[in-house]
Amino acid sequence: MGGSPSLPEVSLTADRVVLITGGNTGIGYETAKWIAMRGARVIIACRSEERAKAAIEQMQAEFKEERSKGTPGLCSCETLALEFMALDLASLKSVESFIDNFKAKEIKLHILLCNAGIALHAQEYTEDGFEIMFQVNYLGHFLLVAKLLPLMLNSGEDCRLIFVSSEAHRTASFDLDKAQGKHHTKENFKRLLYYGNSKLYQIMQMYVLNRRLQKTNVTINSLHPGIVETEIARNSTDLQAWKLFFQLAKLVHVTKTPIEGAKTSITAAVNPQFKDTRDAYFVDMKISQPNSLARDQEKQEALWRYSVDCLKDFIKTEDMNYLEEL
Ligand SMILES: NC(=O)c1ccc[n+]([C@@H]2O[C@H](COP(=O)([O-])OP(=O)(O)OC[C@H]3O[C@@H](n4cnc5c(N)ncnc54)[C@H](OP(=O)(O)O)[C@@H]3O)[C@@H](O)[C@H]2O)c1
Repeated sequence: MGGSPSLPEVSLTADRVVLITGGNTGIGYETAKWIAMRGARVIIACRSEERAKAAIEQMQAEFKEERSKGTPGLCSCETLALEFMALDLASLKSVESFIDNFKAKEIKLHILLCNAGIALHAQEYTEDGFEIMFQVNYLGHFLLVAKLLPLMLNSGEDCRLIFVSSEAHRTASFDLDKAQGKHHTKENFKRLLYYGNSKLYQIMQMYVLNRRLQKTNVTINSLHPGIVETEIARNSTDLQAWKLFFQLAKLVHVTKTPIEGAKTSITAAVNPQFKDTRDAYFVDMKISQPNSLARDQEKQEALWRYSVDCLKDFIKTEDMNYLEEL
């Protein structure tokens, strides 16, 4: 991380609510833990209760250890305000019940980190009929965001929505007729292309939402965490190729540990310096620029219409009217 800016000194309170998808491992784990250690209430939305509860226990243990070492900047709380809620982004029904359960808590929502993701997955379709990386990385989050935004709009100052995207968006192509990859066979399905597409769509969604929310308390940003040593490609059918890529990246010192990768998410989520920042694509904790395809306004709006259509059984047109009326 030579030359990178350092993490901000922030103190948060338990009435600041942070929701992070996929917070039980990897970059999400470190992001959730760091933010909770500064005092916020952090909800990790994960598909496995067992793994999420084990992760929370581990975070509590690591917090105690940090406290006993006298690490500066920690909250004065006895235990971290961490919770688990069930969410499987590969099932739109699961996303819907998550939203109902979240709303039933009658709490505010200040920071939503769309972090969960899968990469280089073999061709597979969800129970909703969508290509699995498209749904887990993009469409499931789209539904979550669409239904939780009204809550964020009523949660007061400095609410932030963050998409954990990737430099892989540069490998993407934009052709909505082929967005589900059904013209491919299992053998010639392009896993990197479809991963890249899902990451491109997240950045495009950021631009569309900022256009509609620019006069509000909610800002939307995106980021690339770096090449991070996690298990992101564990479902890949070509794990060896990923491992080789990673080893090569390690040789040239461009890989990061999960906490180093989390620093960009933490920066986007809580650094006071970026309170009013919109449309930023952070890399290495600094504002960078996504490619021109991601910035193409016409394509962004086409993607928006396509996504709303994909979700027509879950979102009625009138449900989205609040966005046009802001
Ligand atoms: N690692 C990198 O080099 C890299 C580079 C660029 C971008 N990113 C992005 O960073 C984000 C975090 O990835 P990571 O590297 O930390 O990977 P990771 O360690 O594999 O973490 C991914 C998280 O997503 C969750 N997840 C997967 N499928 C899900 C589903 N259907 N519903 C809900 N949660 C689900 C996982 O839960 P389970 O534990 O249940 O599987 C896990 O908590 C991803 O969006 C990824 O695209 C990573």
